[in-house]
Amino acid sequence: MSAIVNPMDLTGQRVLVTGASSGIGRDTAVLLSELGAEVILVGRNEERLVETLDLMAPGNHHISAFDLRCHDETGSWMKKIASERGEINGLVHCAGISEICAVRYLEIESVENLLSINLTAAVSLAKAFRIKGVRSKQPPAIVFLSSVASLGGTAGQSCYAASKAGLLGLSRALAVEFSREKIRVNSVVPGWVKTEMTEEIMDKLISEQQVAAVDAKHPLGIGNPRDVSHAIAFLLAETGQWITGSSLVVDGGYLAA
Ligand SMILES: NC(=O)c1ccc[n+]([C@@H]2O[C@H](COP(=O)([O-])OP(=O)(O)OC[C@H]3O[C@@H](n4cnc5c(N)ncnc54)[C@H](OP(=O)(O)O)[C@@H]3O)[C@@H](O)[C@H]2O)c1
Repeated sequence: MSAIVNPMDLTGQRVLVTGASSGIGRDTAVLLSELGAEVILVGRNEERLVETLDLMAPGNHHISAFDLRCHDETGSWMKKIASERGEINGLVHCAGISEICAVRYLEIESVENLLSINLTAAVSLAKAFRIKGVRSKQPPAIVFLSSVASLGGTAGQSCYAASKAGLLGLSRALAVEFSREKIRVNSVVPGWVKTEMTEEIMDKLISEQQVAAVDAKHPLGIGNPRDVSHAIAFLLAETGQWITGSSLVVDGGYLAA
């Protein structure tokens, strides 16, 4: 009898996950560890990264607290991780912030801050990951976290939507540019998922009626982090080996409705 092979097995893979201290990034780190990967957990809050580590399956995981807005330092920081831990097979950029604000009230400083973490950090991470000796020789993969906000207009989300649409363009362009190095680049496009990011929006900004309206826009209801981390793992693993430059919508039917 032949052994059952799990095409999503990540044993022997080293994956760097940004945003690992919360929400989708935290759950991605947990799932990847359960699939056998060694995970490098990135965020600014070390205490919360330790909380994530406590939820993970045992493994040679590593915490690296880093502010992803330090673009000039991203290359040397990732080189140091690779030289100490070994080459990296996968990069998942989950770190991100959102801002709900009409354009007329937007401060340019906060626009620049949002773009710095959501979009520019994705460029500097990809640039560093591409370096020989940082990424592995095995076909490596990058996954960016976009959003349904990039594909449908919502008042008050202009800057967030622009950053997330930027990631879609970035992943397509890099998929072609990095194909010589056999680096696959894809995006996941989630609808509303229950995390701290959305809890804050729901608590502070919108009424119960508006929350119900958001829920109603998702034929399958609002999602959980695991709905998205499954898609991320699928794109990183052998299951995604012929997928590059694509954007995988994981939105409970939001865009279809
Ligand atoms: N939740 C949703 O409904 C939803 C829907 C579509 C797309 N997304 C996208 O999915 C991703 C994860 O969202 P989430 O809901 O899980 O968010 P979250 O719970 O608010 O977590 C955001 C993460 O980003 C990290 N981060 C923020 N600024 C950083 C910085 N300057 N340097 C390093 N790390 C930083 C935070 O870590 P520290 O605080 O430790 O730095 C935290 O781990 C985001 O890109 C978001 O735009 C979310």
